[in-house]
Amino acid sequence: MNVLVIGGAGYIGSHVVYELNDAGHDVTILDNFSTGLRENVDARATLVEGDMQDLTLLNRLLESSKNKPSDATSTAEEADPFDSVFHFAALKAAGESMEHPDIYTRANLVATMELLNTMLRHNIKNFIFSSSAATYGNPQYLPIDEAHPQIPINYYGFTKLVIEQTLKWYSQLKGLRFAVLRYFNAAGYDVKGRITGKEQNPANLLPIVMEVAAGMREQLQVFGNDYPTRDGTCIRDYIHVNDLATAHVRSMEYLVAENRDLTLNLATGEGYTVLEVIHEAERVSGRPVTHSIVGRRAGDPAELVATSGRAFDQIGWKAEQSELSKLVESMWQVYG
Ligand code: WQD
Repeated sequence: MNVLVIGGAGYIGSHVVYELNDAGHDVTILDNFSTGLRENVDARATLVEGDMQDLTLLNRLLESSKNKPSDATSTAEEADPFDSVFHFAALKAAGESMEHPDIYTRANLVATMELLNTMLRHNIKNFIFSSSAATYGNPQYLPIDEAHPQIPINYYGFTKLVIEQTLKWYSQLKGLRFAVLRYFNAAGYDVKGRITGKEQNPANLLPIVMEVAAGMREQLQVFGNDYPTRDGTCIRDYIHVNDLATAHVRSMEYLVAENRDLTLNLATGEGYTVLEVIHEAERVSGRPVTHSIVGRRAGDPAELVATSGRAFDQIGWKAEQSELSKLVESMWQVYG
């Protein structure tokens, strides 16, 4: 199939592009390289450098999958229109969204709404959306399933929820087919070693731990060790980015084959504490991960783990690369 991946040079997007190409699909990447890395771009893909908020570019791109912006001569009938669109180009820092809601409104809400309208204008009906555990907010029960109430506690999670709700309306009113994929904590690097560009200025635990082990950062601050968990530090459900990529490809194939919408948690159902992550990184790297215990971070629930039983039932997917050892080993291949 002919596929557009917006944000295909980013951390998750680049892994999905490799998986799509491995599965024989024809992939075009749209990326503005604000955070994406050129070294992570799969050479098999067609690369269009630009911003999804540039509606002139977006319209021209969606009119024809073979047109690059400079090639305005191709006519629509020559073009092979996109079958599906993946969207990885949102802002994702929960804390930042609380300080700068305006940039999250523009980047995550307005840009995605315009994308959906443009897709429908060009009769492109399959949309795979990176949603998030952040739409759930504080857990009312664990493990979290897809029926869990969605009461986001940060603006980032709210933007993801608004898009999810818009997709339901567009499905009902305009026949858009969507896959909402709610990630828990994405981590790891391509087990085949094809993606090695490191995320710049990471805010998430795993890359920060790796930077400390590699001597790129002096120490890790552990945000609280007084939580009601087995060692007092927070528990999260870490999912390998290769597992995420597999789920995305299968979800797209499901939309096309079944012509039905999907809403899935992508998680393992297991959780690891912050200290367990630190100790595994020290074991794998053979290096100390210097850390200090500081106060809790606002908005951090003690534990977040989820079920993915629906993903197994509907697309035959379950996490296979997400054991902590595999997550850390695949990252140390890049940082070490
Ligand atoms: C994990 C644990 C921290 C950094 C976020 C987003 C969520 C999703 C995944 C996109 C927590 C602790 C972290 C540090 C620490 N993103 N920690 N010191 O907050 O679970 O989820 O990323 O969809 O929407 O909210 O991930 O990696 O920031 O934190 O102690 O320097 O590590 O307290 O318990 P989080 P995280």
